[in-house]
Amino acid sequence: MTQGFSFEVQATDGAARKGEITTPRGVIRTPAFMPVGTAATVKAMFVEDVRAAGADILLGNVYHLMLRPGAERIARLGGLHHFMRWPYPILTDSGGFQVMSLAKLRKLNEDGVTFQSHIDGSKHVLTPERSMEIQALLGSDIQMQFDECVRLPCSDAEAERAMRLSLRWAERSRKAFDSARGQAVFGIVQGGAVKSLRIESARALSEMDFHGLAIGGLAVGEPQEVMLEMLETVMPYLPANKPHYLMGVGTPDDIVKAVARGVDMFDCVMPTRAGRHGLAYTRFGKINLMNARHAEDSSPLDPESSCPAARNYSRAYLHHLFKAGEILGMMLLTQINVAYYQELMAGLRAAIEAKRLADFIIQTSEAWARGSQ
Ligand code: GUN
Repeated sequence: MTQGFSFEVQATDGAARKGEITTPRGVIRTPAFMPVGTAATVKAMFVEDVRAAGADILLGNVYHLMLRPGAERIARLGGLHHFMRWPYPILTDSGGFQVMSLAKLRKLNEDGVTFQSHIDGSKHVLTPERSMEIQALLGSDIQMQFDECVRLPCSDAEAERAMRLSLRWAERSRKAFDSARGQAVFGIVQGGAVKSLRIESARALSEMDFHGLAIGGLAVGEPQEVMLEMLETVMPYLPANKPHYLMGVGTPDDIVKAVARGVDMFDCVMPTRAGRHGLAYTRFGKINLMNARHAEDSSPLDPESSCPAARNYSRAYLHHLFKAGEILGMMLLTQINVAYYQELMAGLRAAIEAKRLADFIIQTSEAWARGSQ
């Protein structure tokens, strides 16, 4: 184990765990939701407000930062934490997933991926070794192995090929991880929607010396039942003393169900992206502020929220800001959504500690279904 990184499970309720990851840059309370700060910013939010909302850790992306402003440049400017004024933990995703969804003219072989930037068409190469080097240059606390994630549905043969390649890349990533420039490195389980492949991947990764295990290749087009079935399949094979991270998930409902199955960490663009499109996540479910029914509604989104923006501004005002295309609308709703996700995680942690997770899940889902009117 790297010095300074540790994980402790403090309470359990069924398969769910409440715990703490300790790093030199601070403690991460789990189950944790990591707001996405792709391009060295959580879009439309001050980092101070992200912190005030309750986030212990942010996610950054190798793919975006290597293209702009460049990993070497960020290193010369003092590293990602200093650059974006966020002194707390940062996890970086390794780039393969974003190359596959964003880059042009991708070419994948055993060594890595060659691709063209979606920004200016310039040619780049990512390999497990280069991805780990970039994550070290950024100075990220938790680094992810370089992997290949396939979209679902896909053939079993395709899922198997990508899973085995990801295992070989896991070994190369683990070897290239520089413990002097990062606290931890996580492996990523792949295997599509094929149970035997998922199990093989989880088993093999558990035997490598990773500090945590992620489940990748989910929430990529499959129904929620398939995602939950894959989670149930792999969980028994993941070491209980290491954090379990479900990548790119999800809706509040996905998160609650995954926590009940033993997941400790999440990231997703949903709260921030939805906030820029007039969608609020609240205790009363998802609310579309563009809808005309809010035009003269003087009530706030949630009078009991911990977030001042959710308590103080009327729905009518938020509706107006979005109708008028005002930037403040995006800022307020992003803040409201990030705060709601953090409140949900705090609620899950408290419920696990009190061994009343099942009740908490029923109550939260009933409130989402009831709505606010
Ligand atoms: N983000 C969401 N899913 C994945 C995945 O499977 N791999 C990586 N690296 N990032 C992801």
